[in-house]
Amino acid sequence: MSTAKVEHFERLRGTVRVPGDKSTSHRALMVSALADGESTIRGLSPGLDVDATGRIIEQLGASRIVDGDVVTVVGPPKGLHASDTDLDCGNSGTTMRLIAGVVSTVPGAHRLVGDASLSTRPMDRVGEPLMLMGANFEGRGERLHAPLHIVGSHDLRGITYVVPMASAQVKSAILFAALGAATATTVVESVRTRPTTEEMFSRAGVAVVSIDDDQGRRITVQPGRPLARNWLVPGDPSQAAFFAVLGCIHPDAELDILKIDSARERIGFLDVLQRMGATLSLQSRDTTASLSVRSSELLATEVHAREIPSVDEVPVLVVAASAARGVSRFHDVGELRVKESDRFEASLALARKLGCRAWSEGDDLFVEGLGSATRFAEFEIDAALDHRMVMTSAIAGCAGSGCSIGNAQTVASSYPDFFDDLERLS
Ligand code: S3P
Repeated sequence: MSTAKVEHFERLRGTVRVPGDKSTSHRALMVSALADGESTIRGLSPGLDVDATGRIIEQLGASRIVDGDVVTVVGPPKGLHASDTDLDCGNSGTTMRLIAGVVSTVPGAHRLVGDASLSTRPMDRVGEPLMLMGANFEGRGERLHAPLHIVGSHDLRGITYVVPMASAQVKSAILFAALGAATATTVVESVRTRPTTEEMFSRAGVAVVSIDDDQGRRITVQPGRPLARNWLVPGDPSQAAFFAVLGCIHPDAELDILKIDSARERIGFLDVLQRMGATLSLQSRDTTASLSVRSSELLATEVHAREIPSVDEVPVLVVAASAARGVSRFHDVGELRVKESDRFEASLALARKLGCRAWSEGDDLFVEGLGSATRFAEFEIDAALDHRMVMTSAIAGCAGSGCSIGNAQTVASSYPDFFDDLERLS
């Protein structure tokens, strides 16, 4: 257990290169493990979550060799096989949900376990569609909590499934299982979530048709084995969000953030900050973008979960709202409750610790900002097993009056060098 002390920095200058995108990294490992032959991955996320996926694909029969920034994965010619030991997903919901899809088509018995946080997160959202495909899937209680017992087979059938919540993990679990099903599978989402899985499948030669309609998307995947290929992982926009908010709310900041994935579904937080009055510019190139952020005077805004479909950036936007003038409202952000911790309550509690009035109505969260981060109170917090609450708290402390964060080591789930990168800006 470690406690991190964060002090207010007088002045922030510099360039941040955030780690490789976590979502792309998990999928690059899984797609490469399913392929026949050698793939390479450059820029993989160094976090423990992605390492958990790496270990699991090895247990399932793929090989993984790390050489500096290049990870080489060789998928076994005859396909993956069951492991006789538990598949330990650690703190990583993406690992557990996507691997559940993968192993549903790998013959044999699989047991998926996770840490205390992951073992309380609902797995029925993937269990239900996978069982409709014919998978044998068991978990604890009604919400099918881990440990999960899955018996994989080659007999899955394709389905058409309307995902009941905005969730890229659920969509992706189904699409991974779809690769090994007998017929095509269609996933319908009423809110478009990150398109990482379907885009990577397509680049690996899998037949994918993705059609946007109104605010949703319909993705059809044909069964098939992905081809081995060379992947380049862009920077993680969800990690960039911490520095983008820091640059806006700190009284003396000029920050540049390089080469993040610029998929629309990932950078909604930038629209929110711009609407709040942030001095922020974006230079796009192909599928990545670099950002420049300056100290800004922010005004309150209304945010809808649809703008930030996986709600990962909401807690740090609550910090931005705490520094803004006026009352901000975050609509329909109940999904925050089932992340690595209850981020709905944790965000309200953090805003209050900073000195704000913060309250909720159903799944809507309200914050009355103080008008400037310089008015934030010094605070103490326990981040439990939630890496994003560590970073959110650190940003608030750094822009405001400092803070002390219990269980700060959990930042390593996604961003082991976060505190070093933050320190370098001072
Ligand atoms: C992820 C999806 C998100 C997000 C997580 C990564 C993914 O969850 O919170 O950090 O890689 O698919 P949802 O399933 O809520 O979209």
